[in-house]
Amino acid sequence: MAAERVGVRFLPGPEATQQAGDAIGRVLPAGTTLTLTGPLGAGKTALAQAILARLVGPGVYPSPTYTILAAYPGPVYHLDLYRIEPEELGELDLDEIFWGTGRAIVEWGERAAALLPEQRIEARLEPRAGGRRLEWWGHGDRGVALARELWARSGLGEPR
Ligand SMILES: Nc1ncnc2c1ncn2[C@@H]1O[C@H](COP(=O)(O)OP(=O)(O)O)[C@@H](O)[C@H]1O
Ligand SMILES: [Mg+2]
Repeated sequence: MAAERVGVRFLPGPEATQQAGDAIGRVLPAGTTLTLTGPLGAGKTALAQAILARLVGPGVYPSPTYTILAAYPGPVYHLDLYRIEPEELGELDLDEIFWGTGRAIVEWGERAAALLPEQRIEARLEPRAGGRRLEWWGHGDRGVALARELWARSGLGEPR
């Protein structure tokens, strides 16, 4: 399964993460799974909250650290699988979340790697001195093509 990095951007502070999430939310199409990867404190939830603000509207989007899943109109699903137990995975309607008409934003998707759609987008966040490094990846042939298209449309590849 091909995975390819199609874009990189440095985010020099929380405001830049917020702007990146806004740009991603503008272009993320229905029927897409976006995984957010990176260590604890990398800014995955901050990025997800900014995407949600664009897709769902201004508001408060609590981290689903303990609830695992938060569902919003759209539908838009925000998942954090960090604390999920394998037997709990069956309680989530993953068919609807990953294969339905909505959008899924997934932190710690690695916890359910075998269940993720092969065709998907991944945003990797890595702490760096003075901020975060954002990498934009596609998985699968169609996921790579979509990642490339979205990166171009988001404007994140261009200096702003
Ligand atoms: N580009 C950035 N540079 C510096 N700090 C950031 C950046 N983006 C987000 N942060 C901060 O990182 C912290 C952890 O973010 P969080 O979204 O909770 O991480 P995660 O969900 O990956 O564990 C927050 O305090 C957030 O404001
Ligand atoms: Mg988080």
